[in-house]
Amino acid sequence: MNEKQMAGYEAAKYVKDGMLVGIGTGSTAYYLIEKLGQRVKEEGLNIKCVSTSDASTEQAKSLGIPLLDTNDAPELDICIDGVDEVDPQFNGIKGGGGALFREKIVARSAKYNIWVCHSAKLVEEIGDFGLPVEVLPFGYKHVVKKMEDAGFEPVLRMNKDGSIYETNNHNYILDTKYTNSKFGKDYAAMEAFLKGTLGVLETGFFLNCTDLIISAGADGITTIEN
Ligand code: A5P
Repeated sequence: MNEKQMAGYEAAKYVKDGMLVGIGTGSTAYYLIEKLGQRVKEEGLNIKCVSTSDASTEQAKSLGIPLLDTNDAPELDICIDGVDEVDPQFNGIKGGGGALFREKIVARSAKYNIWVCHSAKLVEEIGDFGLPVEVLPFGYKHVVKKMEDAGFEPVLRMNKDGSIYETNNHNYILDTKYTNSKFGKDYAAMEAFLKGTLGVLETGFFLNCTDLIISAGADGITTIEN
């Protein structure tokens, strides 16, 4: 079993009969969904899930996992998702897979949040990965300018074929370094600035919004409670 699979399968143990479950996106959440599918089939686990991306929706459907629209499930028992980087203060960056907006809505609606990841995602300081920012296509270059004026270094996310990457919400992603921004290391101030910029839908900062991290590495599984 690879490390991501170990983390995803371990997290699936936290899902109990009767729960409303937010299911995340990415290559680690993939294994969570895989295991939940097995449990639904083999144990008759009775759950309903809200998905954070089209990809996770397709996977869950193919495994026979019952799904609900997020508008029909404003409160979830648990949400389990991946993360791109997380520091010891539980500040996280998400959105490598472009699903940050849906992930944040679903995470915020859950009473308990778990992040699953490879141990390489546990870092002393977040930022090397860059911060994904979801922006509306209309006028996005105005957002780029505002960000650059504040010292950010936004780059429009592209597909391998050279076309512009679009999120499931049909928006664009600006991946940005923030080391030279005028906000220093004040992530909350950066978040407030970005969210206050016309045309920004959401940022990939997930600040102190997980209850438990399940990471897996060469030494096995580690769980870190917030
Ligand atoms: C999706 O937008 C992201 O937030 C993912 O949850 C994150 O990129 C983790 O993905 P992996 O588990 O594939 O590393």
